[in-house]
Amino acid sequence: MAGQSTLVGIDRDDEALTACRSRLAPFGQRVRLLKGDFVEVKPLLQSVDVHSVDGVLFDLGVSSPQLDDPRRGFSFQTDGPLDMRMDQTGPRTAAQLVNGLPEVELADMIFEYGEERFSRRIARAIVQARALKALATTQELVAVIKGAVPAAYRHGRIHCATRTFQALRIAVNRELDVIAPAIRDAVDILRPGGRLAVISFHSLEDRIVKHTLRALADEPQAQVRVLTKKPQVPSEAECRENPRARSAKLRVAERLPQECIQ
Ligand SMILES: C[S@@+](CC[C@H](N)C(=O)[O-])C[C@H]1O[C@@H](n2cnc3c(N)ncnc32)[C@H](O)[C@@H]1O
Repeated sequence: MAGQSTLVGIDRDDEALTACRSRLAPFGQRVRLLKGDFVEVKPLLQSVDVHSVDGVLFDLGVSSPQLDDPRRGFSFQTDGPLDMRMDQTGPRTAAQLVNGLPEVELADMIFEYGEERFSRRIARAIVQARALKALATTQELVAVIKGAVPAAYRHGRIHCATRTFQALRIAVNRELDVIAPAIRDAVDILRPGGRLAVISFHSLEDRIVKHTLRALADEPQAQVRVLTKKPQVPSEAECRENPRARSAKLRVAERLPQECIQ
């Protein structure tokens, strides 16, 4: 961190905050770590007496520690409880959605958030399976999905549970709902010349980021200009080193100086 700058970190995952607290301990009081949602960026910063900032980075989505810990239930590759909450105190688990949503809502969710073309078949199979016994684990859900989709899809390029798991994760954590309001609030607290950067990991997120930044830049009283006409993507070397980076997209906007805001 440059000079005497201060970093305020926000995450809704207690384990991420604990890991970060120990990693950034050498920076002492210059680092403040707060539990909360990105959409609460303004009140969270106010709670530590910060009213404007030089930069904001929203690193969206799920982390490797979350994906790699079977107890969190994010991965279809390991067995664990159907949880998927980023905030372990959150109100809904994936199991509650899988076992509680009516079939049509389940299918719509898997279609909309997973862009899964076999959403209706998968929802129907889930409803049939849960009538016998509630689905409790990731592997129980994977088995139901495998039984619901055509054989060719089961052996396709991506795992046949990928899209359903993505949809559930997005729904459990309301991941898409917070992006636009969080971006707008972050722009509000940027100092002139300050920058907002957003890293997204799938097209649904990136679309919201792109449209929100464009809308902010096109408003009659525009407060920002977008610096990334096209999103920045990782180099081949970075993807080789960290394959999970391959779908990342970075978009950046800069707060205009006061005299430019009409
Ligand atoms: C892609 S990871 C990046 C973590 C960290 N920047 C790093 O590089 O290790 C995203 C992190 O943001 C958190 N997160 C995602 N959406 C959030 C939201 N709306 N509010 C608060 N935290 C969120 C997740 O819990 C996760 O720890």
